[in-house]
Formats: sequence, structure tokens, C-alpha cells
Amino acid sequence: MSVVVLGSANLDLVYEVDRIPAPGETVLSRGFASFPGGKGNNQAIATARAGADTRFIVALGRDDAGDRLAEEARRAGITLLDRRVDAPTGTAVITVDPRGENAIVVDSGANAALLDLTDTELAAIRAADVLVLQLETPLDTVAAAVRAAREAATTVVLNAAPSAAVPDAMLAEVDILVVNEHEAAELAGGPADGATLLTALTAHGCAAIVTLGPEGALVGSPGTTPVLVPAFTVEAVDTTGAGDAFVGAFAASLDRTADQRSLVEATEFATAAAALSVQRRGAVPSMPAFEEVRDFRATR
Ligand code: RIB
Repeated sequence: MSVVVLGSANLDLVYEVDRIPAPGETVLSRGFASFPGGKGNNQAIATARAGADTRFIVALGRDDAGDRLAEEARRAGITLLDRRVDAPTGTAVITVDPRGENAIVVDSGANAALLDLTDTELAAIRAADVLVLQLETPLDTVAAAVRAAREAATTVVLNAAPSAAVPDAMLAEVDILVVNEHEAAELAGGPADGATLLTALTAHGCAAIVTLGPEGALVGSPGTTPVLVPAFTVEAVDTTGAGDAFVGAFAASLDRTADQRSLVEATEFATAAAALSVQRRGAVPSMPAFEEVRDFRATR
């Protein structure tokens, strides 16, 4: 499977805290570390580690953080289609509490300059089996990438994260939408139970996966009965990037038919990848390899 990921890369500045600070509150950190992150970068690394031939279209600054992120991505076996721009590499400040829950602030930096796709970038999208997108990249660029994929019958997987409004016209061109409950509610016009959210999303004509945290993930496509794929019960130390582990592993294990059976199988693999990732600290360091996911699934 060949996958192109188009998206963000950030240097994550991660603080372990006893509790995530409330407005006006200062808390002392128990420990600090920086890790490669960013939703696009995490998903590209998850995809490559899951065994897919992966290209990553990304904008980085001409700085040490950009060098570090590029080096780490190449070490994971990714072919980078990177632009170096006159802006600092994106950063994210992340607080993680003892339950592994987090709060994240992203400064887009160079990611905001990923505009006007080049002929090389468009050709890579058209040549791929699957295109993976998120919403830390300008929406016009996401739309242009979706159009290029549609021209070539490249399967489009949109992870509509972080939560944002997406034009209906774009949702109609997406093949598979992957969202958590909050993101699903944003797109569906308000909170509802998982099945109702799924029905609202698939009404756009796409397949949809709604992740439901410890309950698992609900899979559906137009005209099919939704299937709940249960989550694994594990002890979380850091949930940062768990959604990205899911999306990357899902894209890497998709079957070309992308029918309901293959969506469920890819979701089962992705659910195991996410369960492994929450047991490790950091975003990129927590993305599991194919063999780890395979062995972990065998324990169920
Ligand atoms: O999904 C997790 C990611 O969100 C972090 O790596 C951070 O960089 C933000 O983009």
C-alpha cells in the first residue's frame, strides 16, 4: 500500500503535571521532554511503521527543530517531500496528567505556509493508493489535495482534527472520515450518541469511523449496518498522538476495496495500534511497528 500524508509537523514540548492547570493557575512540572510530533508527522510515522510505503508533504522552518523532525521522519523510512520556509517550525506545548490525559496548544509556524501545492506534490498524491489529511494545514490546501486525489482515484482519508468546520462540498469528496466524538459533533451540528453521529456523517456519502475512547470505534458506510470495534483495556501513561497512531495504522492496513469488511479489519488493527501508543510517552516515539501490533492483537 502506498500512502501520501499531507499535514503538519511540530516539535512537542511536553510537561508532566499533577493536574492540567485551570485558567489563572500556575503548576510546577514533574518532568519535561521534547519529542517530534504534529498530527501529520505522527500519522506519517505511524503509517510507515505499520509497513506502508509512505511519502510526507510538509512545511518545516529552516531551524534545528525542522532538521530534527526531518531526520526522525527519514529514519522511520518516510520519503519526505518537505519545503523549508521562512517561518519557525511548528511547536506544541503539551501538559500531560497522571491519567495520561493532555491539553495542547499549537503554534502552526511553518505549517501555515503549506500553500499552493507544487506539481511534484500533486503528482505524488495522484500516484498514491491512499491520501491522509488532517486539519492543522490550511483548509484551501486540504481541498486542493482532495481534488487531486479524486482525479486519480486515490482513496482520501480525512482525519478532521483538530475540531473545525469542514465545508459539505469537501466532505462529499472524502472517501473515509476518521473523527473522535467531539470532532464528529462539530461536523454533525451538535453532540449526539455515536450511532446518530455516524449516520449524520455517512449522509455525506463517505464512510466514517467515530472513535469513542474506551468504548472502541464505530465503523459505518452508506447503506451498511454500523459495527462497533471494541477497544483494548490498557493502562494509559500518555494519550498524546493516540488518534494519530489510529489513523496511520488504519491507512496502512486499508484494503483497496475499502468496503465495510475491510474498514472493520483496518479499524481492528488501528485500535490495537492506538492501545499500544497510549502506554508510551511522546507522540512519535509511541507509534508502534507492524510486528508489535500483530503480537499485541494475538494477546486478545
Ligand atoms: O495529535 C497529537 C499532536 O497534536 C501533537 O503531536 C501536537 O503536535 C499536536 O499537533
